[in-house]
Amino acid sequence: MHHLQGEVRASGAAIGPEANRGIGFPRLYDLLVLILTRGRDRSYREALLDLAGLAPGFQLLDVGCGTGTQAIAAWRRVQPGGSVVGVDVSEKMLAAARRKASRAGLDIAFHQADAAQLPFENGRFDAVTFTTVLHMVPETRRRLCLHEAARVLPPGGRLLLIDYAGPVSERGHMSAKHGLHGQFDLHRLREPLAAAGFERIEGGPLGWLGLHYLRGVRS
Ligand SMILES: C[S@@+](CC[C@H](N)C(=O)[O-])C[C@H]1O[C@@H](n2cnc3c(N)ncnc32)[C@H](O)[C@@H]1O
Repeated sequence: MHHLQGEVRASGAAIGPEANRGIGFPRLYDLLVLILTRGRDRSYREALLDLAGLAPGFQLLDVGCGTGTQAIAAWRRVQPGGSVVGVDVSEKMLAAARRKASRAGLDIAFHQADAAQLPFENGRFDAVTFTTVLHMVPETRRRLCLHEAARVLPPGGRLLLIDYAGPVSERGHMSAKHGLHGQFDLHRLREPLAAAGFERIEGGPLGWLGLHYLRGVRS
């Protein structure tokens, strides 16, 4: 298992002026997720983790980890011997994530970093997840994010993306239609994903909140 302290290459320095801002309302965010999942946030997290291909001993990076709910759920899946690291651009979300992990007694490291410039060495993780993050990243920086995910994975490493997809007119869930959600189509990232060095790319509906998944294996 990697030693978590001191592993980050340049803590804090990874956020350039060109990076987008994240979410600054952690409590409201958690409440919204609870409302949208009708109190079944835990089942929602388990459903998407089923797609991540995690196994005991895995080193997982959760990019855009928000308030840490998913990183905490994922931690249990990589035991024994695995670890989880979360990164987010928003210090407010990270503070909430650290509080939650500490309350749960879990050793999960949360760092401030931009998805387009990850402060980790090449091949550091076995799996990387992005859950409802890429629709927030400006289109011009999404490919950078995929290249960074590829860089921190070794050959055989797994990437799971969860986000909004498909023609807006066919989106059943109200939260999938509006604002940045409605403008984003996850399946348009298939070609950039292959260009970033992923193979065995597959995707489809998640079955929750009108979300879809796209996943691939680092070639
Ligand atoms: C909709 S929330 C999802 C949070 C978490 N993944 C979850 O499933 O609950 C999106 C998160 O991505 C973060 N974010 C947005 N742009 C980012 C970027 N460029 N790099 C890292 N995190 C980012 C936001 O601050 C926010 O916490």
